[in-house]
Amino acid sequence: MDSLKTSAAHYSDTVVRQFSIMAVVWGVVGMLVGVFIAAQLAWPELNFGISWLSFGRLRPLHTNAVIFAFGGCALFATSYYVVQRTCQTTLFLPKLAAFTFWGWQLVIVAAAVSLPLGFTSGKEYAELEWPIDILITLVWVSYAIVFFGTIGTRKVKHIYVANWFFGAFIIAVALLHVVNSAAIPAGFMKSYSAYAGVQDAMVQWWYGHNAVGFFLTAGFLGMMYYFVPKQAGRPVYSYRLSIVHFWALIFTYMWAGPHHLHYTALPDWTQSVGMVFSLILLAPSWGGMINGVMTLSGAWHKLREDPILRFLIVSLSFYGMSTFEGPMMAIKTVNALSHYTDWTIGHVHSGALGWVGLITMGSLYYLIPRLFGKTEMHSKSAIELHFWMATIGIVLYIAAMWISGVMQGLMWRAVNADGTLTYTFVESVKASYPFYVIRMIGGLLYLIGMLIMAWNVMKTVASGRSVKVAVPAVNPAHA
Ligand code: HEM
Ligand code: HEM
Repeated sequence: MDSLKTSAAHYSDTVVRQFSIMAVVWGVVGMLVGVFIAAQLAWPELNFGISWLSFGRLRPLHTNAVIFAFGGCALFATSYYVVQRTCQTTLFLPKLAAFTFWGWQLVIVAAAVSLPLGFTSGKEYAELEWPIDILITLVWVSYAIVFFGTIGTRKVKHIYVANWFFGAFIIAVALLHVVNSAAIPAGFMKSYSAYAGVQDAMVQWWYGHNAVGFFLTAGFLGMMYYFVPKQAGRPVYSYRLSIVHFWALIFTYMWAGPHHLHYTALPDWTQSVGMVFSLILLAPSWGGMINGVMTLSGAWHKLREDPILRFLIVSLSFYGMSTFEGPMMAIKTVNALSHYTDWTIGHVHSGALGWVGLITMGSLYYLIPRLFGKTEMHSKSAIELHFWMATIGIVLYIAAMWISGVMQGLMWRAVNADGTLTYTFVESVKASYPFYVIRMIGGLLYLIGMLIMAWNVMKTVASGRSVKVAVPAVNPAHA
């Protein structure tokens, strides 16, 4: 802290602290809603006959809370932290950064109120109505100004690869949001999409898939490229691979959307393009995973004693798993079995709980003590416990969904010799019941892990204090 006295410039970390804490808070809320809707699928009477507690309204609340509130706050926090450290400068326009915090919290609260009340545009992951969409646009443009302004005023020549991923995520999400949310307002909180029919579906899944590609992947890869080397205490395995990884990934993702619309009215050739690009996507995805995991080469023993590193590395194995599974599910004949079944839900959560969840938790465990003037989290054994609760929870969740999904697909296509269906739909629902209970238990374990994290963070913050960290003098070798 000596440099505090000599340097006038300090990193703008207030906003990083705020976003980090809110990521934990919204994580608990979003996962709680997840466990509740998982329980509703096993015991439907849990909606208590109240419209705003019905599955149809709480499901989008869950997806918005975990993706945009939990994931979004974590992405804001880490990108603001990383861009300052790697550019050796403070945030560009810190007041605008503060606006992104308060504006984003307002978006989340507006979602939490409007979705249970039944206001929805009906587009998955873009359900929020037009006044909220406008607020999102304002916050996002401000985010881009702060982030790219900081890059523009950097004190080092080089732009570290994590910033490339964060930058691509910010630009792509702006583009996706503005194009897909184009709508004609028909009163306050009611609108009609600017597109119709099959074009509407195509735009929606161009958005939907790239929300996965850029919100749930590129941004978190930015996290990976900073926090894995930091926690492992080693440089990135291959910087060259990280650049190839970046360009290949962002080029390929954009074309894969039609795999969500196999066997629909979408022209057949577009479905094939979607399938082929999804298969190609395996290569850059695995390139990134290998780059992250191999960063540990020569330091594998650290995995044994460092639970934070375990969060980060196990998240990469789930990333590898879900990006192998995704291309397989994009093959039309495989999709004929998996689509509409719980297999999709299993795939989603191996990516969401395994990759997005664990990389976020690992990064926050690295970040929070440093933001509050501590050398480490309050309790290491609580991190250990969290890791095991989360990992066992994920395995229960995704294994249950795979079995239930493949079973549903096979039951729906089974036909008797005379051509009639072997099973009624309700028989497949009944057969899924035990797996819904197992999924709920897995989700509950994951949620308890998150509550342990919240307790650990609270203890760390309470015994720490907000610190001002001076921007170091620029190393002339990097200038
Ligand atoms: C405690 C943890 C969680 C539980 C118990 C849970 C449970 C659920 C349930 C029951 C559904 C509805 C499934 C259906 O309609 O059949 C769902 C959907 C979804 N969840 Fe979660 N979830 C959890 C955490 C997360 C997290 C952390 C993320 C993202 C980062 C996430 C992302 C999603 C998405 C994207 C969907 C929609 C999937 C689709 O439409 O195919 N979930 N979740
Ligand atoms: C190479 C990478 C990937 C490919 C090619 C891919 C492919 C697919 C395919 C084919 C589906 C099923 C579409 C359907 O039948 O409706 C799907 C669904 C989904 N995937 Fe992936 N996936 C990949 C990685 C990921 C990752 C890493 C995540 C999460 C972090 C993820 C999240 C989702 C979600 C949320 C859905 C459900 C969308 C919906 O219907 O609501 N995917 N993916």
